[in-house]
Amino acid sequence: MNTQQTVPILDFGSQYVQLIARRVREAGVYSLLVRPDISVEELRKLSPVGVILSGGPSSVYDAGAPRCDPKIFDLGVPVLGICYGMQIAAQILGGDVRPGEAREYGRTRLHIADNSRDLLAGLPQETTVWMSHGDQVKALGPDFLPLASTPTCPLAAMRHVSKPFFGVQFHPEVTHTPHGREIIDNFLYKICHAAGTWQMGSVIEQSVAAVRRQVGDGHVICGLSGGVDSSVLAALLHKAIGNQLTCIFVDNGLLRKNERQTVESTFRDHFNIDLRVIDASTQFLTALRGVTEPQEKRKIIGKLFIDVFKSQAASIQDARFLAQGTLYPDVIESGHSHAGTAANIKLHHNVGGLPAELGFELVEPLRDLFKDEVRKLGELLGLPAHIVWRHPFPGPGLAVRCIGEITTEKLELLREADEIFLEEIIAENLYRNTAQTFAAILPIRAVGVMGDGRSYHHVIALRSVDTSDFMTADWSRIPYDVLARVSNRIVNEVRGISRVVYDITSKPPGTIEWE
Ligand code: XMP
Repeated sequence: MNTQQTVPILDFGSQYVQLIARRVREAGVYSLLVRPDISVEELRKLSPVGVILSGGPSSVYDAGAPRCDPKIFDLGVPVLGICYGMQIAAQILGGDVRPGEAREYGRTRLHIADNSRDLLAGLPQETTVWMSHGDQVKALGPDFLPLASTPTCPLAAMRHVSKPFFGVQFHPEVTHTPHGREIIDNFLYKICHAAGTWQMGSVIEQSVAAVRRQVGDGHVICGLSGGVDSSVLAALLHKAIGNQLTCIFVDNGLLRKNERQTVESTFRDHFNIDLRVIDASTQFLTALRGVTEPQEKRKIIGKLFIDVFKSQAASIQDARFLAQGTLYPDVIESGHSHAGTAANIKLHHNVGGLPAELGFELVEPLRDLFKDEVRKLGELLGLPAHIVWRHPFPGPGLAVRCIGEITTEKLELLREADEIFLEEIIAENLYRNTAQTFAAILPIRAVGVMGDGRSYHHVIALRSVDTSDFMTADWSRIPYDVLARVSNRIVNEVRGISRVVYDITSKPPGTIEWE
């Protein structure tokens, strides 16, 4: 029985829906996404202290526009409708929604009629909010009270007279609404009277207890990659079950400089975890010999990884469970976020994913968490900052950064150049401001002058991007003098590189990796 207070969010398809859940959790209340047509009975099982109706791309008068169970407004807990969520609620409760004369996108001024109580309490009377809508609520009828307006939207915030329903036409969850956090806090604490006990410390306790319950005295295998998710997973499992855990780290010969040593020293020496390091580099590099086509490389690496992992796992006696670092966004993307449905693991191009036929029962203690929560958890579990804040690294490793044929010579040059780039970025305090920073080696040579002689060596491409979702990305505006220093160091220190270029392609049309 779930007794943790929650604020479920009915997901009408807004691009910001995950952000709403994160904001609510940051404010100290557990939040999860549910289907928009969830029944009131199902909602009740989640111990809601309030409900949020998200925004969405539909128009409430489109045929087939998603609707919610009208009984939600009699559930006995407060409801906050955001954008589409406010419109659908207004429609159900007898308001009049029409296409707005002026579509409103972007920042706009909000005038608050009454900032003395409930949703907008404590906000300045004039403030900025982020709008993104076409329709708006036109006429409220006697059952509603207007709370705020913008120059083109007279009913930008409202409440019901007798039911605990509140609506905002703008988006309090985005950072472009500077007082959005206070609005969400007001909803949670002044209106829902939430206890606010959700915090990462209690997540550790709950996860530890849940893992122990699931696993009993069984043995768990965990594939460790050195990335954030699997590292936090391993640290959490270790706390929960100690020596019932065995971690497997596959050295595929495509790792960055010192990567294997870092994993060994962190997990074996510091955490004292039973860590099996399998050196399969010769196997991988032999299988990749002569292969230049990116998809072909991925397939070879993915298949070999499963083979190697499988044979190692088979040698661990009594292992019944396999731990996976599935996160909440993976669960949402696979369409199974919604209360009560079974787990479905997203096996996208991630080589870390293992097929079900391995026959293990899955342990997934991170599946309710967002990435930033996983990082927080990692810090609380005592993982070093360089692991917790690490940029993502693709499963196929340097294979997608060594363009053309993969040779040990090119990999060696790439490792050195990549390390220099990272060293300088970290020294300049730019690492935390960029999302992914790395070097790639190109399958061409270029002429250079070295001392008195002419050189004809490899070309390194530097890539650094800014993004929060990795679906779109912009290239990082790294200061010229930093790029100059990196370029000088690479050409001088890495024998075999004669050129360095900086990639200024955004995504789209580019991708982050070079492949
Ligand atoms: P792209 O290159 O598609 O990358 O813009 C988006 C993000 O995904 C990572 N990536 C991968 N991660 N296995 C992974 O685990 C892969 O095969 C893979 N390919 C790309 C990439 O590093 C970036 O963070």
